[in-house]
Amino acid sequence: MMPTVELHLHLEGTFEPELIFAVAERNGITLPYGDIEELRRRYEFTGLQNFLDLYYANMAVLRHEQDFADLTRAYLARARRAGVRHAEVFFDIQAHTSRGVPAEVALGGVSEALAASEREFGISTGLIVTFLRHLPAEDALRSLEEILRLDVPLLGVGLCSSEVGPAAPFKPVYDLARAHGLRRVAHAGEEGPAANVREVLDVLGVERVDHGIRALEDDALVDRLVAERVPLTLCPLSNVRLRVLDNLAEYPLRRMLERGLVVTINSDDPAYFGGYVDENVRQLTDVLGLSLDELTTLARNGVEAAFVDDARRAELAAEVTAWREAQLAHQG
Ligand code: ADE
Ligand code: ZN
Repeated sequence: MMPTVELHLHLEGTFEPELIFAVAERNGITLPYGDIEELRRRYEFTGLQNFLDLYYANMAVLRHEQDFADLTRAYLARARRAGVRHAEVFFDIQAHTSRGVPAEVALGGVSEALAASEREFGISTGLIVTFLRHLPAEDALRSLEEILRLDVPLLGVGLCSSEVGPAAPFKPVYDLARAHGLRRVAHAGEEGPAANVREVLDVLGVERVDHGIRALEDDALVDRLVAERVPLTLCPLSNVRLRVLDNLAEYPLRRMLERGLVVTINSDDPAYFGGYVDENVRQLTDVLGLSLDELTTLARNGVEAAFVDDARRAELAAEVTAWREAQLAHQG
């Protein structure tokens, strides 16, 4: 199995229907769906907003620290089977605090599970809190200030949810994050235009762009991303399920690789989009006929794009090389 770095993964997007029902039941919550099959039938999306509505509704059954720990642990167990060796996971803190769950409860459960990840699953991790673009930037700033007062290990900040309205109002959030030594990413160029990618680079000072697929519509921007080696965390199955593209055959991955973009393959919200990162890679490989060299480049891009120290980066790089050599020996 290809060793993988996962850089674009919403923990709440790994909430599988079975666990949604189990957590709802133990919290005494009645879901508006009769059973798992009825819920699954709703996993047909017309676009980002239509998906987000269901995603936020389902995560509302998470109430207690244990719920957040169980969600996180279930992801890590699945990620291990997908070959994930390092994961930088997104967590939509405001989606929980806005409905009355204290930040320390939600983050307590997540960080407890992440802290045990290396030992339990052999996966190194980092936590990126993602602020919601559809809420006022002042809420995000207050939220980050609160999180910084908590004793929670934090890797970075991100921005997600509906790609509407400017990202510029979030500049104070990113400035505060930078002042505290946090890493900075943002969703842009998923449903929104290439100009949104420029905005998060120029105004928020992000170090990676989540999705960024629509950057391809702006040649000068692509040149800049290549020159500055700004990674794009692509999520192919997500893009198809949210109708950013009609099908995987149209996925411009090879064009992006040939242009020299630092692209990585990730799973976004795998419980909703039909597959974890291994499935994203497998389907792309089948449909596009990816070569061992191309797969190696994708794996190495993930290692380059990860926010890890030199020692961990060297370990991850060595695993990719060992995997490549095993594949070559097998082919030969
Ligand atoms: N939150 C969870 N998944 C998302 C996506 N694909 N785009 C924006 N916000 C999200
Ligand atoms: Zn995302």
